Amino acid sequence: MTLPKFHIAVLMGGWSSERPVSLMSGNGVADALEARGHRVTRIDMGRDVALKLAEAAPDVVFNALHGCPGEDGTVQGMMDLMGLTYTHSGLATSVIAIDKELTKQSLVPHGIPMPGGRMVDSEELYTRDPLPRPYVLKPVNEGSSVGVAIVTEDGNHGNPISRDATGPWQEFPRLLAEPFIRGRELTTAVLGSPQGPAALMVTELKPKSGFYDFDAKYTDGLTEHVCPAEIPDDITRACKDIALRAHELLGCRGTSRSDFRWDDSQGVEGLFLLEVNTQPGMTPLSLVPEQARHCGMSYGELVEAIIGDALLCKAGIGEALLGKAGTGDASHTTGTADAPHIEVPAP
Ligand SMILES: Nc1ncnc2c1ncn2[C@@H]1O[C@H](COP(=O)(O)OP(=O)(O)O)[C@@H](O)[C@H]1O
Ligand SMILES: [Mg+2]
Repeated sequence: MTLPKFHIAVLMGGWSSERPVSLMSGNGVADALEARGHRVTRIDMGRDVALKLAEAAPDVVFNALHGCPGEDGTVQGMMDLMGLTYTHSGLATSVIAIDKELTKQSLVPHGIPMPGGRMVDSEELYTRDPLPRPYVLKPVNEGSSVGVAIVTEDGNHGNPISRDATGPWQEFPRLLAEPFIRGRELTTAVLGSPQGPAALMVTELKPKSGFYDFDAKYTDGLTEHVCPAEIPDDITRACKDIALRAHELLGCRGTSRSDFRWDDSQGVEGLFLLEVNTQPGMTPLSLVPEQARHCGMSYGELVEAIIGDALLCKAGIGEALLGKAGTGDASHTTGTADAPHIEVPAP
């Protein structure tokens, strides 16, 4: 499908720890949109972002921000107030999904399997472990594995954890403690469409050494992506089912990506959702574009599909825009006749 030509502001950068990734996502998206004939305004978000958006007055904003405040509802609320149409999830969904503990509180009662554990004051860690080792400590609202520490039996970081040991306890006053799920690392993208959201594929991430940390995520060659993952059919089905249900329960829009750990000695009982990313990486080499490609959708088509979903979600406004920017072809005014159709391979 091809969208009519729009003026699209691509919001990127910002000041979160994921700024460099967001600049790559945003520039990749902007390049693809320009190549498809859209007018693009690139906005590297500073404190004057509202002014920049008001000056640009785009038809639609592509949100390519990662981390806070672009992924936690703040920027979404600002754009709601400004009456802007934007891609990806809205305010309430973003507030919940950015917070790994709130996500659990929202999803676990609906039967979505997530690791147990609890929030702890970092100060507590210097007297006793919150959970039996091995366990994981992580901030509730960072991304890209920033601040994730794995505390093992052999007393790495001290036993109990030492105040002087380098770790997230030095930076964050409260942390989420979770049992360490041994095994494998899986991820599944969900993409919205006029036919409803659909789960794309399951990718297995195989870090060459250590765990799936920041360097393993962003250094070329340090992590192997196996797509589709070489896992039993029931695990593939479970990942897709859980990712889709989580997307729907949280009210995600556009696209989301659910990260899993799978203890392969436990069958489907060993599968746990870790988090739902509402602003997943969108560099041309990122996981969501990679899964889309395996489903027959190019990077440019994926970017346009996410914009198409934003316009459709904004119901009346989307239809008006599709009509306004369209070529006069009646199909553009319906908002659905020319809609992206995702071919999702049979499970
Ligand atoms: N409970 C856990 N058990 C095992 N590994 C974990 C656990 N929680 C996080 N990790 C590891 O840390 C990585 C990042 O954690 P995640 O919850 O996805 O946060 P984010 O990607 O937002 O930093 C995971 O991909 C995984 O490798
Ligand atoms: Mg993750």
